[in-house]
Amino acid sequence: MSVKAKIGPSILNADLANLAAESKKLLDNGADYLHLDVMDGNFVPNLTFGHPMVKSLRNKIKTAFFETHMMVQNPEQWISPMADAGVNLYTFHIEPVDDVYKVSRLVQEAGMQVGLAIKPGTKVADLEKYISIADVVLVMTVEPGFGGQSFMADMMPKVEWLRQNYPNLDIEVDGGVGPKTIECCAKSGANMIVSGTAVVGATDQRQVIKDMRDVVQSYLK
Ligand code: DX5
Ligand code: ZN
Repeated sequence: MSVKAKIGPSILNADLANLAAESKKLLDNGADYLHLDVMDGNFVPNLTFGHPMVKSLRNKIKTAFFETHMMVQNPEQWISPMADAGVNLYTFHIEPVDDVYKVSRLVQEAGMQVGLAIKPGTKVADLEKYISIADVVLVMTVEPGFGGQSFMADMMPKVEWLRQNYPNLDIEVDGGVGPKTIECCAKSGANMIVSGTAVVGATDQRQVIKDMRDVVQSYLK
């Protein structure tokens, strides 16, 4: 299997007024990438930040891999500004999008990788026809909108199905993932792990990141 275990902290529950310092600390402590949660108050009932903030962060952090998790009603609208802000992986939800192929193509043409996300209520079958154009598939393990929610173990059959059928696919999980739930995600076949509260709030971030990556890697053989 060629996929690798990667830990991408979500900075949603970090001190957003100190985003650069919080992000640098996470990267210094071994984070493989940063997962930036963009919410528009429409697709989800919460509001975070947009491309100006991501661009400012990119000015301070030149080399890290940035994923934006676009919890927005119209992901097509933000492709160009997010590419300009230095985003590497543009992950959007398929639910509000009419033409997923078109939006994916535009993301690629803007020089970013494509991530396709599904909410807990969306079947993996609804995503299947798009897998060939995706670099990453994101299976949400909470209802998107807020950090600090409880992990939904009943999403794991989606991850298992994806891993069985697509051994080389980057499969990401997001929501309520931490030391207590990592084994479940790893066993199911997830390899890209988003973790917010559990990492950001840890007294030893480095240890938590390393331990979770080791668990995930141990199942990727
Ligand atoms: C939820 C976000 C997640 C979340 C992760 O809408 O997409 O990235 O904030 O945070 P935890 O790990 O605290 O659930
Ligand atoms: Zn997220």
